[in-house]
Amino acid sequence: MPDQKSGKETAKLHKAYQATNTDELAEAYDDWADEYEDHMKSIGYTHPAMVTSLAAQHIPADATPILDAGCGTGIMSEIMQALGHGHIVGLDASPGMLKIAGEKAHYEALHHMYLGEKLDFETDTFEGVVSSGVFTQGHAPLDGLDELIRVTKPGGRIAFSVARTYLEGLFDPKRKALEDAGLWRYVDETGIYNSAPLGDHLPSRVYCFEVV
Ligand SMILES: C[S@@+](CC[C@H](N)C(=O)[O-])C[C@H]1O[C@@H](n2cnc3c(N)ncnc32)[C@H](O)[C@@H]1O
Repeated sequence: MPDQKSGKETAKLHKAYQATNTDELAEAYDDWADEYEDHMKSIGYTHPAMVTSLAAQHIPADATPILDAGCGTGIMSEIMQALGHGHIVGLDASPGMLKIAGEKAHYEALHHMYLGEKLDFETDTFEGVVSSGVFTQGHAPLDGLDELIRVTKPGGRIAFSVARTYLEGLFDPKRKALEDAGLWRYVDETGIYNSAPLGDHLPSRVYCFEVV
């Protein structure tokens, strides 16, 4: 039987996945921020390890700057800096999550921005983008990829996880539309993995595309 604490945290997770707009989502993450990392550890959260594994094969450590899109509390930055990335910029919809990311001090800058809206970065700013646990149901819309492409320099790679309804079919037409428009080209993908092996069954995959 789940203990009371993990039951409460699971409810917060579900609240985040059931959000119907960005305000609800940011509120759910603000409410969850202090317990987020403990909860993710308890479910054996694997997105950051999987995204950074594929990114390490396709985004050189000297690519700079790197954008962590939907950085949350900054788990990705701990791995990225250990892999040699020195200039990491984060963005997220939740001020509460950003506050904790700021305490890690691995980010050169953190921004409160929404994927799915116009990002306040110049075109061709980043040499690479990573995104873990963000392109999934109730989170960033797939159209958020358009802006990630715009702010990435030609030749830069975007490595991101895809899960739930996106992986079950919604991502394929979006990916093809971006390929057909000549905006990105396919580089690589991981196999299917469970992003919460100790807590749930959440089939996921990481993709890497190169901006044209
Ligand atoms: C499951 S957490 C992942 C956080 C971090 N990348 C990690 O792997 O620990 C999802 C994060 O995406 C952020 N997020 C969801 N939708 C977003 C959007 N449209 N724009 C920006 N951030 C968003 C949430 O605020 C939350 O911090």
